[in-house]
Amino acid sequence: MKPISLIQFLIEERRAGHINAELSLLIEVVARACKRIGVATGKGALGGVLGNAGTDNVQGEAQKKLDVISNEILLEANAWGGQLAACASEEMEDPQPIPDMYPKGNHLLLFDPLDGSSNIDVNISVGTIFSILRCPDGVTEPKAEHFLQPGTAQLAAGYVVYGPSTLLVLTFGHGSHEFTLDREVGSFVLTRRDIRIPEETAEFAINMSNQRHWEAPMQRYVGELLAGRDGPRGKDFNMRWVASMVADVHRILTRGGVFFYPLDAKLRAKGQSGKLRLMYEANPMAFIVEQAGGAASTGRERILDLQPTALHQRVPVFLGSKKEIELATHYHVEA
Ligand code: AHG
Repeated sequence: MKPISLIQFLIEERRAGHINAELSLLIEVVARACKRIGVATGKGALGGVLGNAGTDNVQGEAQKKLDVISNEILLEANAWGGQLAACASEEMEDPQPIPDMYPKGNHLLLFDPLDGSSNIDVNISVGTIFSILRCPDGVTEPKAEHFLQPGTAQLAAGYVVYGPSTLLVLTFGHGSHEFTLDREVGSFVLTRRDIRIPEETAEFAINMSNQRHWEAPMQRYVGELLAGRDGPRGKDFNMRWVASMVADVHRILTRGGVFFYPLDAKLRAKGQSGKLRLMYEANPMAFIVEQAGGAASTGRERILDLQPTALHQRVPVFLGSKKEIELATHYHVEA
């Protein structure tokens, strides 16, 4: 069968009435920016891009050079196209307006420009995560409050993994689809349409070093997985933890599994309500996972139903194979 390029796929989605021309163009611009991030990431030590930038982001985390470079690539690519009213990023405290010299569009773009950045210097997969919302009617200069829409309002979400191959996974609310970058041609090519996550799994992802800090329901759920075939689950479970959410989620979209970053006593002691960010990590990933037949919760509520209260809000994240997420959520709700 003839390969379908991202551009062709976007034209099909427009014809199907799933997206309009402005959103289609916005995805093209984001995908092009991610190709540039992939090139910068791929140069590694040769490009002088490894190591810390010597600055902290809004959450007080040390920024890597590639965090800063990726943020700039996405901002610059999206400034002039005319599809956006404003951008917001993990790396910036406030939303970035579109400069007055350029036309404004009707969309809001949120992104984590380089997720998993602790993995950059050790040559392990990292990625970009993005979420697209509609700018509320009549708002010409969007502020943080205009971004605070629940995940169910997302028009599109996606992530790009910079790994052995560069992959884009995208949803407009009509299934989740995977595109692989053909590096010789320079274009993303559809490699999986309508990805389905198996409902059941025997593989889980969690940072086990935090086990002693977890709440009792998390201890119970993971304890049962670890008990293997002699425990209540009656089968052995395998564990994986890349520490790049994009890579862990992509594995789940490929062969099933579950991913947890729960709220724990260590995070609470720091005054945090979770580790991962709702607006540009949890919401886009939850949208993609649900569209692939999986589930995503905070352990107590569906992520996509949360009403955000702050741009950089953190939430617990449970996502992946539906039956496992339902069980882990059930343990938390009944506790
Ligand atoms: P960052 O984008 O700041 O590198 O955060 C990475 C996130 C996520 O990608 C990953 O699942 C998680 O943090 C890893 O956290 P731990 O280091 O606590 O395991």
